[in-house]
Amino acid sequence: MKDRVRVFSLAVITALLATTAPVQADEYPQGCVDCHKQEPGKTNLTLNALLAQIGHPKLPKVKKVPTSCGGCHASDEGEENQFAHMIHQIHFDVPKANLFTTRFGGDCLHCHAMDADSGEALVKSGPRNW
Ligand code: HEC
Ligand code: HEC
Ligand code: HEC
Repeated sequence: MKDRVRVFSLAVITALLATTAPVQADEYPQGCVDCHKQEPGKTNLTLNALLAQIGHPKLPKVKKVPTSCGGCHASDEGEENQFAHMIHQIHFDVPKANLFTTRFGGDCLHCHAMDADSGEALVKSGPRNW
């Protein structure tokens, strides 16, 4: 369920993740879809619903999140509009007192994981949930 990231600053993220590795169980083993979901009686927080609200193109080909987002969004180094930059900015925009940081603690490990064997940083993923 985990995909390899092309890690630009592997040393940095590896050090960060190693020092913040939690002892408790992972609340979000599948990353994005473990937060962005629909629970009975609550607002629909699936990415399909949130993105539709901001006029995003429909997502028929998305099977895995965020892996399939890469079908249209590149994460090449040095690109201003690259996916990683965009997703980081959405969740860590401190001046807006972003909910991800105030309510969810803003942990890198909500989306990333360490492969203990290879020592590589990964982005967690899960099947579409809409
Ligand atoms: C631990 C919970 C959590 C995880 C994991 C998470 N998000 Fe979010 N996400 C949030 C919260 C909270 C917001 C709302 C931020 C705000 O408005 O303050 C948000 C906002 C967003 C938005 C903006 C939606 C809008 O209405 O404009 C997108 C897009 C998004 N997330 C995509 C992702 C993707 C892609 C992943 C996985 C790589 C991911 N999120 C993982 C909690 C999470
Ligand atoms: C079929 C192609 C396609 C797929 C698949 C796709 N996107 Fe997009 N996305 C777009 C296009 C086109 C835009 C508009 C780009 C622009 O405004 O410059 C966009 C814009 C966005 C924006 C910026 C919205 C804004 O107005 O600021 C976010 C956030 C986003 N996509 C998240 C995602 C996520 C998360 C996924 C995977 C669940 C995803 N996208 C999958 C085509 C796609
Ligand atoms: C809301 C989810 C989310 C959070 C939280 C998050 N990341 Fe990411 N990160 C991503 C996604 C999505 C990618 C792009 C993966 C891809 O394109 O394959 C990425 C890519 C990266 C990369 C690869 C290089 C790049 O920028 O393209 C690094 C390094 C990274 N993240 C570091 C961090 C660090 C350090 C933190 C904590 C401060 C963090 N991330 C928090 C979702 C997240």
